[in-house]
Amino acid sequence: MKYKLPRQVYTQEMSRIVAGQMRKQKLYARTLSVEQLQQLSEVTQTILEDELPKHLVCKKLPGDLGKGIFLHPEAKPILKGQMIAPYAGELSFVSQSVMDDSPYAFELMDKILLTKEEQAHFDPKHSYHPKRQYCLHVDALKKGNFIRFINHSDTPNVIAHTCKIPANSLGLSESPLEVIYFAQKIIRPGEQLLVCYEGDDKSYWSALEIEPLPMTPKTLQLNSSLKVISS
Ligand SMILES: C[S@@+](CC[C@H](N)C(=O)[O-])C[C@H]1O[C@@H](n2cnc3c(N)ncnc32)[C@H](O)[C@@H]1O
Repeated sequence: MKYKLPRQVYTQEMSRIVAGQMRKQKLYARTLSVEQLQQLSEVTQTILEDELPKHLVCKKLPGDLGKGIFLHPEAKPILKGQMIAPYAGELSFVSQSVMDDSPYAFELMDKILLTKEEQAHFDPKHSYHPKRQYCLHVDALKKGNFIRFINHSDTPNVIAHTCKIPANSLGLSESPLEVIYFAQKIIRPGEQLLVCYEGDDKSYWSALEIEPLPMTPKTLQLNSSLKVISS
């Protein structure tokens, strides 16, 4: 693996726009507790140094599934509510009229209106239109961390929460909006970590024009020799 970006990186300008849009659109983001900020600090440090926490394993899966992330068969279970890591990638404002079907893009916010100067800066290919709406995307195609390898399930054991990172004394940069993955239920040793990709608009799989393989955390598991086995 070569994905060592611990968190998405906001420029000051993006952060200002996103914070303003959050207020304008009355959007909610969780504020992390002190304990969660500590977990975030630890996991981001691990990603920088080792890419992958020691209790997780990244493995090639059968067929066209690519890779996946498993809890090591000898690790302790991950408890419900425990932080896994942030979804990191390149942040950009993408015009809503442009079809963005990157399989690694996460839409953080939509219906964003940018001023003339902001459009010129963030979307120089289009001429200014006052009513053009933008989405805020975080795309882990080129840059990201191990979270980009977590596959999809309709019955996941991981959930994506939108969070904000306040000023803190742990050296974590502040952010107005960030996606962080948490355990949605207990994850047992050997199980695959899976999250549901679909939001309310159910657009992920329809844009790719493929049917996802129905998987639960137990469909593919790691045995004690770290081989992927089907149940
Ligand atoms: C964010 S990536 C997940 C990691 C991917 N397996 C890899 O190795 O890069 C999303 C892509 O993984 C594959 N994928 C994830 N979950 C799947 C599922 N349940 N059925 C089929 N393909 C899946 C699809 O190709 C999807 O576009």
